[in-house]
Amino acid sequence: MEFLQRLLCTALSVASIFYFIVKTSLSHWKRRGILHEKPKFLVGNLRGVGTKRHISAVLEQIYEKYKGQAPFIGCYAYLKPMVLVLDLELVRNVLVTHSDNFRERGVFGNAPHDPLSANLLQQDGAAWHRLSIAVCPTFEEERISQMLPTLERVAATMHRSLTQSQPPNAVPIDKLVDCYNIDVISTLAFGISGETLLNTDTEFRRMARSYLKDFNMFRLYFLMYFPNLARLLRYKNYEQAATHYFLKLVRQKLFEQEWSRIDNRNSFFQMFAELKRHRDPERRLSDEEIAAQAFSFILMGLETCNSAMTFCLYELALQPDLQRLVREEIRGVCRQNENGMDNARLKQMRLLKQCLHETLRKHTPYAFLLRNTNEDYEVPNSVFMLCTDNHLVIPVAAIHRDPELYPEPNKFDPERFNKENVKRRHPMAFLPFGVGRRYCLAQKFAEMQMLVGLASLLRDFSFSPCPETPIPLVYDNTRLVLAPKGQLKLAVQHV
Ligand code: HEM
Repeated sequence: MEFLQRLLCTALSVASIFYFIVKTSLSHWKRRGILHEKPKFLVGNLRGVGTKRHISAVLEQIYEKYKGQAPFIGCYAYLKPMVLVLDLELVRNVLVTHSDNFRERGVFGNAPHDPLSANLLQQDGAAWHRLSIAVCPTFEEERISQMLPTLERVAATMHRSLTQSQPPNAVPIDKLVDCYNIDVISTLAFGISGETLLNTDTEFRRMARSYLKDFNMFRLYFLMYFPNLARLLRYKNYEQAATHYFLKLVRQKLFEQEWSRIDNRNSFFQMFAELKRHRDPERRLSDEEIAAQAFSFILMGLETCNSAMTFCLYELALQPDLQRLVREEIRGVCRQNENGMDNARLKQMRLLKQCLHETLRKHTPYAFLLRNTNEDYEVPNSVFMLCTDNHLVIPVAAIHRDPELYPEPNKFDPERFNKENVKRRHPMAFLPFGVGRRYCLAQKFAEMQMLVGLASLLRDFSFSPCPETPIPLVYDNTRLVLAPKGQLKLAVQHV
């Protein structure tokens, strides 16, 4: 009996302490007198995210409710207080003008025990600075232009695979573009010839699909609250098998490169390999660091490019007249350039690029950007203050769907991105790749990769809805990067 009483007392004490911690965490903004979205017990403002709702939809709802009332409001990612930035001038200050105050992103990484996390996205502080100085030059326009012939070759294989498969009425478009993007990554970032378009079940594709450990709430809480303890306990984001596979692949390729001493700069892998022998020790990269930079193409560039290319083809399938105009533009540019594409010619495909940008606006792959405050920051022209170590969320997808910036936001209208209309908008109104010191350094390359793939498909094939095409579109709530739920099939015809 006494034992039972003790057990009951202990359980009650633990429950009370737990309740107290949760209540204290969830009253952070109330105590500070900051306008905030009322949180729900345990989940904060993320109720249903990952199951019933996509994070984009949740942020859009909060943004719409509070926009215009304050430059920022408080909200909660589970128990973690976050600052949701609403005002575009404050967005500009955080990302560009006063970016010195907001240098860090705060995404968990543990390079010593999880080598693939030594990528730019997951690094902050001095480690990010060193890597960024070494890696950024590889993404300069002049260097990436040299990769156009490889992109064209992979696109030609995609074209051939679609022609040979004599497309039935319903082609899973998401799978087709996934194979294209995987082959681009394996060829240019890992230095192996991609074969996914010819044989969809390659080991590379399997690993690129299964590197992430299963998502669960407990892990997320743990990493958000106790990153230092997680590092101490040697927590790893990535599966052992995938880590082993990518490290082994890169080491083997570096070894071959060392012996053959091929000295051209036609791929990222070759440029990363050069960094292994850089004369400045600060810029020299280890094998693991090279593997992590190659891996960032999978981590950051695969789902995002898949998303944008799939949704762009979907939107064009729903607008046959627009699709015809895009095709005429592509054919016109290709007729003048039978010897292959160069950067200047790619730039002539204005309407296609506008369609890509309109896709990135309407179906923004990453719904938000993250920044941490390094030191107290007074918000200009206001009475507000952001405190040291505040976690900021910039709701990019919600901004992209703000009807004051983009009237009728659900309409797919590439004319929003002609020169005049872009000039008229606030520079922070379109941020699919972020901006400022932590922007997506692969933006130009990613656009080139997607434009080459889309041009190759749209030049000779027409896309239209088939009975399996979901109208309206349904997103997969379980994924962070915006993706269709299930397969997205379209009817394809050679034209
Ligand atoms: C449609 C394609 C892509 C989209 C929409 C996209 C979007 C983004 C966004 C939103 C960020 C965060 C920017 C910020 O916080 O301001 C980012 C960062 C980054 N992206 Fe991309 N990305 C794409 C393709 C790629 C590709 C192909 C790579 C290949 C390496 C890549 C590598 C990176 C890296 C390394 C960072 C971190 C940069 C840093 O913190 O210094 N991304 N990207």
